[in-house]
Amino acid sequence: MRSNILLASAAALILASAGGAYAVAQDNAAATAAAKDAKASAGVAQKSAKVAEKKAKVATKKAAVADKQAGKAEKAAMTAAQKEGLVKDRIDFMKAQAADNKAINDYAKGMATKEQATTAINDLITRSTKIAAMFPAGTSSKDLPGKSNAKPEIWSDFDRFAGIAKVLHDTAMKEAELIKTGSPEDVGKAQADLGKNGCGGCHGPFREKLPG
Ligand code: HEC
Repeated sequence: MRSNILLASAAALILASAGGAYAVAQDNAAATAAAKDAKASAGVAQKSAKVAEKKAKVATKKAAVADKQAGKAEKAAMTAAQKEGLVKDRIDFMKAQAADNKAINDYAKGMATKEQATTAINDLITRSTKIAAMFPAGTSSKDLPGKSNAKPEIWSDFDRFAGIAKVLHDTAMKEAELIKTGSPEDVGKAQADLGKNGCGGCHGPFREKLPG
């Protein structure tokens, strides 16, 4: 009888510990499932963060495009007064180029220093990159008679027009080197070439005869 009780209690113990193991196993399973869930939702969160980032980028791009269009519209909507102001600035800009030219010619004739010639050629190089942008449509001699001397042909052949500004740039770059290493006489020859092909190359086809 006693051994029966012992047996029974041993069986109960085994059952109890089996139950414990089962509970532990279940806990583990639950933990694993929870971890999986967490991983999955982290993944979803990451994905939606990426989508949000992409959307933000698209929005930024769209805003930039809108800005550009607004800028274009603004240019098109330049008032007559703004156009006249722009032409005045452009003429002053060209006159500054003529002053640079004179400084370099003076150097070639021994009437200016090398330093003055260097400053002038560097200014010409910088200016040559800005010429094309100073000619927005709507500022020709037809649009602003008596104010602008820019021939309408500029806008029917803008690539050629801009190309001559590039010729001026490249010629001026070479001349800058010559000012460094050559004689004033060499510079004088280069200067004739720059005037003929850089400045004159554009004024012939694209500038009206200046009055007076
Ligand atoms: C890409 C073309 C182009 C190049 C290159 C160019 N010009 Fe001009 N220039 C023009 C045009 C067009 C005008 C007329 C602008 C206007 O009236 O709105 C002009 C006008 C001028 C004027 C007249 C300003 C006035 O009193 O009305 C001078 C001076 C001048 N340019 C000097 C130069 C010199 C010097 C160079 C070279 C170092 C040069 N330009 C290079 C296109 C060019």
